[in-house]
Amino acid sequence: MELPPRPKLFDFHGVSMTKCFTDNWDNVQNVKARPDDILIATYPKAGTTWVSQILDLLYFGQTSPERQSSIPIHMRVPFLDLCRPSQPTGKDLVDQLPTSPRLIKSHLPVQFVPKSFWEQNCRIVYVARNAKDTAVSYFHFGRMNMFQPEPGEWSSFLQHFIQGEVVFGSWYDHVRGWWEKKQTHSKLHYMFYEDLIEDTGREIDRLCSFLGLSPSAEERERIRGAVQFDNMKKNKMTNYSTVPSMDLKVSSFIRKGKVGDWKNHFTVAQSEQFDEDYKKKMKNTTLQFRTEI
Ligand code: A3P
Repeated sequence: MELPPRPKLFDFHGVSMTKCFTDNWDNVQNVKARPDDILIATYPKAGTTWVSQILDLLYFGQTSPERQSSIPIHMRVPFLDLCRPSQPTGKDLVDQLPTSPRLIKSHLPVQFVPKSFWEQNCRIVYVARNAKDTAVSYFHFGRMNMFQPEPGEWSSFLQHFIQGEVVFGSWYDHVRGWWEKKQTHSKLHYMFYEDLIEDTGREIDRLCSFLGLSPSAEERERIRGAVQFDNMKKNKMTNYSTVPSMDLKVSSFIRKGKVGDWKNHFTVAQSEQFDEDYKKKMKNTTLQFRTEI
């Protein structure tokens, strides 16, 4: 497949974006949400695919198991914001979803979420991951995904990440914006990648109580096993091996799945600079992350 050149970043209402996420803006903003829609909102690389697979199994794992074995995750849980040449847009895929509820993925910062989701009072699951591991994961994602801007060397990518000059803008603004929203929107479940790694079963239970689901103990265990890192990594329906724009030979999509991989990338000086800047950007918030467990 002939691939287009890497997209360029530009400022879009104060957030760095690429055309893939702004070309279909009006349609995305005018999406008609349904009251039972579930929005899975994240900053990129926070564990979106993991949580998408958990929710898809919770809702449809028993009623339509063929769904999980034949439809890739990005079709089961479409990415609303996405628009690429000669492919159906995320908005079209959302409109065409036959399921109820519809599970919808978005990386939009909270101020860009289409108003219909608030009007319909939809449930939202927000997943957040510590900044250092997110930066590392985002760097490797940029290397392998032709629809991301060229990440360059790690050291320069890290500076761009700190400045918010990456697709979907500042990690700091994103996680804080959604955290503040949680204080007023009761149907928002804010969860952490690190907690999922620490105890996946506990996090599935928390998701179930938020969603009003009560799977049998056996079903819950089955889901917990199915979403373990190794299983999702070898599963063609979750590992993005079906997506031509991603070169898994450069880096896997389901890559390491660890808390603390940043230690293999940050130099001591980079870590100190990062921490100092982090303190400034994350002061006056109760939001806390773990960079190791
Ligand atoms: P790493 O690059 O650090 O390995 P997203 O789906 O939001 O793009 O996030 C991708 C990150 O989640 C990758 O992180 C990927 O390996 C990790 N991930 C995906 N499935 C996982 C699982 N089942 N267990 C642990 N981590 C997982």
